[in-house]
Amino acid sequence: MSSTFCITLKDVQEAQKRIQDLIHATPVMSCSSLDALAARKLFFKCELLQKTGSFKVNKFGGALNAVQCLPAETCKAVVTHSSGNHGQALALAAKMMGIPAHVVVPRTTASCKKAAISGYGAVIVECDPTDESRTVVAAKIVEKTGGILVHPNQDPAVIAGQGTIGLEVLQQVPAVEALVVPVGGGGMLAGIAVAVKTIKPDVRIYAAEPLNANDCYRSKVNGVLTPNLQPPTTIADAVKTSIGPNTWPVIRDLVDDVFVVTEEEIKHATQLVWERMKLLIEPTAGLGLAAVLSKRFQERTQI
Ligand SMILES: Cc1ncc(COP(=O)(O)O)c(C=O)c1O
Repeated sequence: MSSTFCITLKDVQEAQKRIQDLIHATPVMSCSSLDALAARKLFFKCELLQKTGSFKVNKFGGALNAVQCLPAETCKAVVTHSSGNHGQALALAAKMMGIPAHVVVPRTTASCKKAAISGYGAVIVECDPTDESRTVVAAKIVEKTGGILVHPNQDPAVIAGQGTIGLEVLQQVPAVEALVVPVGGGGMLAGIAVAVKTIKPDVRIYAAEPLNANDCYRSKVNGVLTPNLQPPTTIADAVKTSIGPNTWPVIRDLVDDVFVVTEEEIKHATQLVWERMKLLIEPTAGLGLAAVLSKRFQERTQI
């Protein structure tokens, strides 16, 4: 495994020890009608049942690990920027540790996500819906509060915390052959890729991404980090952000393929999960199924 990655399997294992008593062990579920549509056995890792809300996925483990790694005595506050989910996760993690939290969110963030962030006691600051505005406004809040920035997807502790999802999947589904992971900034994808590929190099790791926000796909094709130039428009609002300097090397070296899907495919897959599994996922969480049902995935990964 490359020493140039920002985390190792050991970081993920240590994160797991640190957070396991504080998070829910989420179930893996299956659905025979979706297996039939996909022409293979599917397992759904139900991170929507993780703490911080019934419709959100994945972010709590990463945020909690990051907050636990901070110097408790000197940390005056935590600051982050988020399309909503990481903001909720960091807000709850900070509340549990008794630290004030400030969350910068794009103006366009869904009001239910903003309400959840304030509900966990964090201060919300709005910014323009661009990666640049998020970064600039968060830096100002750090300066003003003397707080510590916890980046939503490039912070190594966040990446390691989310890698614990990969460890859980290997335990829950030992025969797993491939994982399909939605990608925005790539923190979840990179954490899972490092954990899973170190333990079981033959397990394939695929990324699922909206066609309208396809920086990860273009980066893989170009062989260099290629962020979205314009703010993307997609219903999968949690993955509008681009992969970054810490997640790119892992994605470049360990991710086997990236599958892009249209807005229609995302909506269709999300609705299928609502109807067939009765799981109230948000569209970003429908990306994985959308990728698996896509023509290119079906052709490339025949069984
Ligand atoms: C529901 C959901 N899925 C996937 C992601 C993508 O995570 P990352 O930005 O680490 O790629 C996010 C990010 O917030 C998310 O909220």
